[in-house]
Amino acid sequence: MSKNHQKVVLVGDGAVGSSYAFALMQQGLAEELVIVDIAKERTVGDAMDLEDAAGWAFNKNVYSGSYEDARDADLVVITAGAPQKPGETRLDLVDKNLKIIKAVVSPIVEAGFDGIFLVAANPVDILTLAVQKFSGFPKNRVIGSGTSLDTSRLRVSLGKKFNVDPRSVHAYILGEHGDSEFANFDEATIAGRPLKDWAAEAGVTDADLEEILDAVVHKAYAIIERKGATFYGVATALARITRAILRDEKSVLPVGAWMSGQYGLNDIYIGTPAIIGADGIENVIETQLSADELAKMQASAATLKEIAEGGFQ
Ligand code: 2OP
Repeated sequence: MSKNHQKVVLVGDGAVGSSYAFALMQQGLAEELVIVDIAKERTVGDAMDLEDAAGWAFNKNVYSGSYEDARDADLVVITAGAPQKPGETRLDLVDKNLKIIKAVVSPIVEAGFDGIFLVAANPVDILTLAVQKFSGFPKNRVIGSGTSLDTSRLRVSLGKKFNVDPRSVHAYILGEHGDSEFANFDEATIAGRPLKDWAAEAGVTDADLEEILDAVVHKAYAIIERKGATFYGVATALARITRAILRDEKSVLPVGAWMSGQYGLNDIYIGTPAIIGADGIENVIETQLSADELAKMQASAATLKEIAEGGFQ
């Protein structure tokens, strides 16, 4: 693609959407940011509020708009949808949020949008698949936030455990962004050394690692119980993916990617590392998994498959 990747349309101006907008502005990532939501007045207010940052931070052009604005956008980010209430799983949201996604995608496609969709509403793997089906877009141009947030949560926890910067930890959460996700502890490394060696040296047992994983899997519930929603973590993950797309970075990031044979899986979106650049998902990296972990990936996929096969009417 030769044109500048600079215009982002954000659909959904709730806690996640507005935090993402703020992250985008703080990081100087989009020349033009359009905010769309059925709560129109809120988008006008948010645009005014974000505009106030322009004296001190990069903030070229942020305004409240409509689906029509997607016509010449490079990226449409969908955060619209009902969030989890305390005690609800992500999968419990599927019926409600499928309807919302359908209502959002159709007018965007009709407007002539020809860029990349980035989806973050939950259950994200199912809704990413729905966006691909409803839009008919090439699979590489529909990306889910997948396990990006969960991977950050894991790296932060491991970073604390081993006293290293989380950005130096090469570990992934894979699978569903939800209760069936898992960590690739068997292949994870820090500075090229197996995580398991670091663990042995520090007296960290497999049970300790499982405890870390359990806390990662349940962290959203712990946050929702306390403040009603999670938003800064996912907003930052979305900004990171946005940067890779708009700057054509070809970064390896954990996202929700379409499976075409990787891990023995087909026809679903699921969390895996992938190369992200101006063409969206430029390559899915089928990361090496032990037999145990591969079985976990397939079990996680089966959970998603069951729901996906329920259909997208
Ligand atoms: C999270 O993991 C709720 O999916 C959201 O924070």
